[in-house]
Parts: sequence; C-alpha cells; structure tokens
Amino acid sequence: FPVENIRNFSIIAHVDHGKSTLADRLLELTGTISQEASNKQVLDKLQVERERGITVKAQTASMFHQYQGKTYLLNLIDTPGHVDFNYEVSRSLAACQGVLLLVDANQGVQAQTVANFYLAFESELAIIPVINKIDLKQADVESTEEQMRRLFDFKEEDFFKISAKLGLNCREILDAVIQRIPPPKSDPNQPWKALLFDSTYNHYRGAVTSVAVVDGRVRQGDRISSAHTQKTYEVQEVGIMSPDHQATQELHAGQVGYLIAGMKSIQEARIGDTLHLSNSPVEPLPGFKPAKPMVFGGIFPMDQSEYRDLKVAVDRLTLNDSSVTVAKDSSPALGLGFRLGFLGLLHMEVFNQRLEQEYNATAIVTTPSVPCKARLSSDKLIKQYKTEEITIFSPAEFPERRDVTEYLEPMVLGTIITPDVHLNRIFSLCEAKRGEQVDFTYIDTSRVLLKYKLPLNEIVVDFYDQLKSITSGYASFDYEDHSYEPAELVKLDVLLNGQAISELSTIVHKDKAYPVGKALASKLKNVIPRQLYEVIIQAALGGRVIARETVKAYKKNVLAKCYGGDISRKMKLLKRQAEGKKRMKKIGNVDVPKDAFISVLKR
Ligand code: GTP
Repeated sequence: FPVENIRNFSIIAHVDHGKSTLADRLLELTGTISQEASNKQVLDKLQVERERGITVKAQTASMFHQYQGKTYLLNLIDTPGHVDFNYEVSRSLAACQGVLLLVDANQGVQAQTVANFYLAFESELAIIPVINKIDLKQADVESTEEQMRRLFDFKEEDFFKISAKLGLNCREILDAVIQRIPPPKSDPNQPWKALLFDSTYNHYRGAVTSVAVVDGRVRQGDRISSAHTQKTYEVQEVGIMSPDHQATQELHAGQVGYLIAGMKSIQEARIGDTLHLSNSPVEPLPGFKPAKPMVFGGIFPMDQSEYRDLKVAVDRLTLNDSSVTVAKDSSPALGLGFRLGFLGLLHMEVFNQRLEQEYNATAIVTTPSVPCKARLSSDKLIKQYKTEEITIFSPAEFPERRDVTEYLEPMVLGTIITPDVHLNRIFSLCEAKRGEQVDFTYIDTSRVLLKYKLPLNEIVVDFYDQLKSITSGYASFDYEDHSYEPAELVKLDVLLNGQAISELSTIVHKDKAYPVGKALASKLKNVIPRQLYEVIIQAALGGRVIARETVKAYKKNVLAKCYGGDISRKMKLLKRQAEGKKRMKKIGNVDVPKDAFISVLKR
C-alpha cells in the first residue's frame, strides 16, 4: 500500500461525547463491520468498559475508503476519555498524524476537550473539529462552535457538524481525514523500524504488540530486536486489526498493525520502544514520557494460599496496562501482597474490577494514598535513607514530625469548565479542598473556565464526584501534575479493639485530621458488621484518640429461624453464612469486609 494513501488518526473527546459511536459509524460506512445492532461499540472490548461506559484500553482498527477513484487505508486508533487515562491518549497520539476533536453540542467544550486539544496541538497533529449530537433538541451548535473558535482558534470552515448516532454527515469526515491529515512520514526503502505503542497479553502467544511502522517492512520469520532491551525475537505473526486480528503477509511503512514475536514478559514489550531488524540497527524513535502513578494502594490476597494466583494475575494485568507500577509489600494483618501505583482512583478501581472479572481473583485493596515527601532533619534517618529528602509511598513509612524539617505534598493544576450559575458552590468546594484559584475566564456568554492549584490528596478520592453532584453533572474537570509544596501533614491512625491497623491509616493535612478522623470512624462503623463481641473503632493522632465509635455485639444464630427439621433450608442458611464470611477478612479479632478499606474514604 503506497504510503501517500495511508492515514493514521485518532478521535479525541471528553467522556461520553460519542467517540465509540462515531468509530462504529466510520467502521460501518467503510464496510469494516456490518450494521447489525449486535456489532455496536466494537472498539470497547473489555467487560469493564461496557459496564462503565468508558474506554480504558486504546484499541485500533483499520479500514479502507474510496476517495477520488483511489483506495485509502485509514487506521483509527481509539483513545480513552477519562482524566486518569491521559497517558494512554498521548501514547496513542504518537502513532497518528491527525485527530478528530469531537465535542457534544449539548454539553459544549469540557475540561478534557481542552486537555486533549493541547496534547494533540503539542504533538503538532492536524486537528479536525467535529461537533456531535446535532440531532438532540437541546443541542447548541452555535455556542459550541463559538467556544471552540475562542479557545482553539478554529475557522468557520474547519467545522463538521454531525450526528454520530444517526450517521448524519459522517461520510464527509472520512473524506476530510484524507484531505486534511497528512500521510505518515515513512520510507518503504529504509530498513524496518516501528514504534511499539501498545501491548496486550495473550495467554498462549505472549505479548501482542501494536506497532506503527515508520520505515521498511517486516514479515513472519524476520529476526527483530528491541532498541531498548537489545533482545532479539523471531516474528511469528503480523497483521492488521479490522477490527479483529487479520494476519497479513507483511506490515510495511506507514501501516499500523499487530506483531507477535514471543515476548514473554511485561518488561520486554515496553511501550514507546523502537523495534528494528536485528541485522540493521536504527536510530531509536523518541520514547514516551513514562506514566507517573500518583495513587498508591496495597493489594493483598484474601488468603495467603492465594498469593501465587494473585501474583500471576497482577503480572498479567500489568502487561495489559503498563501504567501500573508494582512493588512487593507485606503487612502484619494482611500478609504478603503488592503495592501498586495507579494514575488515579478510577484507574485503581478499574484495575481491581478487571482483576476480579478477568482472573477470578478477589483481593483486598487498602486505602489509597498519594506520594508525599519529607525533608529529614534526623541524622540517623538521613544515614539510613542515604538522602535528605525521601518520598513516602505509604503511611507506614511516614517519619515523625521531630525527625523532619518539613513535609511536602503533590499539587495539581486543575481545569474546571462550568455554567456560571454554579460558581459559588464550586468556589466553596475548592476552598474546602485547600485550592487556590489561578485563572477565571468566560469562554462564552454563560460558561466559565476556572483553573485551581489543588493538593492531589484532596481531590484523589471524591472531588470529581462532589463537583458533579453540586453542579448536577454540568461541570467537568481535568488535571495535570504541578509541583510539590510544603504542608503540615499528620498520620491518622485507626485502631480496632485497641490494635492499630496500619492498612487503614492515612496521611492528611493537620487542619483536616479531626473531621477526617470522625468521618473515618463513623464510616467504619457502618461497614463493619456486628460480631460476636463488641468492636471499638478509634481514630488517633500520635497516640491521642480523636474519634471513637462502637459496633455492638450481636449473637447471630441463623438456625434459630428454622424450627422443625427442614434440612435443605438449614443447609441453605449455613451456606449463605459461609459465603458472607468469605468476603470478610479477619484483622486482629475483627471481621472486616474486604472493600472496607476503599469504601471508607468515599462520601
Ligand atoms: P467514552 O468511551 O466513555 O469516552 O465515551 P464515548 O465518547 O465513546 O461515548 P459513546 O460513543 O459511548 O456515546 C455516549 C452516549 O452518547 C451514548 O449513549 C451514545 O448513544 C450517545 N451518542 C453518541 N453520539 C450521538 C449523537 O450523535 N446523537 C445522540 N442523540 N446521541 C449520541
């Protein structure tokens, strides 16, 4: 396929603005998939994506389109929309020359529209503005266009106005992709060189990598090498995704496809790596900015006998999601497990859900934390850590106040877009979260773009949910990393029947310790079921108790209800009780439900 007839592009949009729907339409229009209802949302493959309606893992699909008597190969790379997954967006964009920037005419420009625009703009990609959902009665195409022109400098003639749902004006988009997006800068006559931009794990075949071929060609049987690890492999299969895998003879310059070469581990299929033929080394492509996990949580098996299974499952899932970092962890109450780093709380929840769905493993997830820092003053600790500034990944590592000159916490720069009627409530929320306003701009007659500097610790758990609820869903939010700044931090301990449960402790700002401690204790009271003895829940600061709750004892005799000799009913009740137990973890002498650790942090 001649390189000048290839286009590699992505659709970028705020969550729910219609990416998957538009992708389906484009695949239908090009005859790549049929129009049967059962085929919808083909790019959202994972079960969690369908359930939550968000795209987690970017997927790619190739299609053919006739334009002015010539056949073009269009490679569509799907991108996730949620703020936690911006990293995947930038990864996908590295394989593209252009994007469709999709905005819902009913909602207008949203925070992730802005973030995605800048990702594409900074990568110097061609950007085609598309206004979607024009079929809706409430659609306000005019203001949406005005916002996009004001914020991104588009011209009137740049816009496409479509209904992805009805297929209205979608064919024109295929033509525009060919007219406005340049073909990849590729040379079929140079030695083979490809960008590895994604990988998934297949039980039988190892890593299945997604590659964008920059130069040359590659075939089954070729010996290839990774520029990063220097390891060599024999190519077992290459092909295109359309959208299912279709093996082809070769992958050549400009093409996007999959490549299987017996890579067995996470480290081997590194995202951003350059692949080349073993006998002709090349200049590696500029790699990606590595993902920076900002939310850390422990994962432990329900029972230590399941540790190995959990390890296998975690290893496999991290091959599918290289933005998760993994370290071994151990805890007095929970035994051996892992400490994982995630991009955000949703990312962490999605990971846990996938762990359960795809690997049949249940795990205990501990309270999430963000990495703080401490400047040490104690010579002993400086000697021990061999540095004066340490990063604290878990509350267990938190040094005492007398051993540090100051603590530092990570800040983010948040963008909020909202109708102006909600401003007052947003100001109060951001103030309560210790935020500092740095920008305030009207983007049309009634919508405002706000920028706030906020502590990550304050927003990581439920800021987004709260923002949504005080604005009836009308405000949107996105954030980027900012800096570390000094803060008076304290460690809040939680005790169950007098025993400190390190897995439940958290690091909070001094001013928040009392309300957070109170809330933690009362939430725990609600999630810990009554047991045979009383459970006393305490929150404490450096040994001083600041909140206390009691779960009353309760003698549970499930069989009391069935008088007479109905054996099968008795068995059923016993079984139900045993199942209830299975979801509990004994900590000290208290049965704690496995999701208590994460649920207590939410409102
Ligand atoms: P994420 O993957 O979560 O970012 O969502 P998405 O951007 O892929 O959105 P999706 O395609 O799932 O569409 C979200 C909702 O909008 C679905 O209920 C669609 O049916 C609906 N939708 C998409 N396009 C249109 C349209 O043109 N008109 C109308 N009325 N609804 C649409």
